[in-house]
Amino acid sequence: MKTFQSRLDINPKKPVRKNLLVTVGRAADVPEGRGATVELADGKELALYNVGGEFYAIENFCPHRGAPLADGELHGSAVRCDWHGWRFDVRNGRCLTKPDSTVETYEVRIEDGSIKILI
Ligand code: FES
Repeated sequence: MKTFQSRLDINPKKPVRKNLLVTVGRAADVPEGRGATVELADGKELALYNVGGEFYAIENFCPHRGAPLADGELHGSAVRCDWHGWRFDVRNGRCLTKPDSTVETYEVRIEDGSIKILI
């Protein structure tokens, strides 16, 4: 019998959870309304967004066909995937286009101007 793997499980750059707080950059370097790609030391990636001064991190992988969500356009708290337009709420990872296609979120903390993500 053939089994199907969730698309969320095929993100090759999804960080493995380690309960580790990782400093990834300076808050001043990510302007409001913009996203950025976070490259971790082990080659894994996340998408980071500044929504009105609040920072959010999600997988950098669209569950539709794998586009890097950090490259999408941010409208309020929703990022629109560059490739085919699926939209995701970066605050909770919910897909606004296909509700069963969520992406994982990662806690972000700002400490002394540094962005720290809990991996
Ligand atoms: S890859 Fe994101 S909408 Fe198709």
